[in-house]
Amino acid sequence: MQFADALRARKSVRAFRADPVPREVVEAILEDAARSPSGTNIQPWKVHVVMGPARDRLVAEVLAHRETRPDDSVAEFPNRGKRKEPYTTRMRTLGKAMYGLIGIPKGDEAAGWEQWGRNYKFFDAPVGLIVTIDKDLGSMSYIDLGIFLQSLMLSATSRGLSTCAQGAWNQFWSATRRVLEVPDDEYIVCGVSLGYEDETAPVNALVSEREPVSAFTTWHEE
Ligand SMILES: Cc1cc2nc3c(=O)[nH]c(=O)nc-3n(C[C@H](O)[C@H](O)[C@H](O)COP(=O)(O)O)c2cc1C
Repeated sequence: MQFADALRARKSVRAFRADPVPREVVEAILEDAARSPSGTNIQPWKVHVVMGPARDRLVAEVLAHRETRPDDSVAEFPNRGKRKEPYTTRMRTLGKAMYGLIGIPKGDEAAGWEQWGRNYKFFDAPVGLIVTIDKDLGSMSYIDLGIFLQSLMLSATSRGLSTCAQGAWNQFWSATRRVLEVPDDEYIVCGVSLGYEDETAPVNALVSEREPVSAFTTWHEE
């Protein structure tokens, strides 16, 4: 697959088939992602791969934690900042399109809670990745992590697999920390679902919008 094709073909998939992904394929994708650049080459990424019974155990524990402590949804690290325009509109546009495809009416909080909970099943993907970072590192290292994630997702796409990056995994982080024995000096930044797209699922028809180049670029030429 050409680079531009992989870039355009990648999308967030939120329903996966049960077909397993061989460990060698996951390893090859991680090897590709490790070629990502990072400031002074510190390579700050750390990844927990969960598959098989280990995946099922994590899913069960985090979902149980979420049911008993639904308010425990704040990330351990300051991660959101203040929501304002134009970001709120973009976020609502995505939410409206996604929940529309799934058939969840606006204001149906129970159905919304249920659908968001699918994050913690990795949307039924057979492989889940939990990405962590050393707490001592600064914000530049999160740029490195983002580049690593995009490399990983494009590598997966080029191999016929699909992904969904998931900030959701920084919520209910204490359960994930306990199950995966993540050291206290690392933050759980996000997760990634990895597997084969369920092409019959309506939610996967979602095509997210993008602003034109002119909306985010200032040219200085003279
Ligand atoms: C850092 C990051 C965190 C994300 N967290 C979630 C998440 O928790 N759940 C989810 O369904 N999608 C999540 N997404 C997917 C975004 O909603 C998606 O990338 C965006 O809407 C653009 O759509 P596309 O990936 O299909 O191009 C996340 C994406 C990124 C990059």
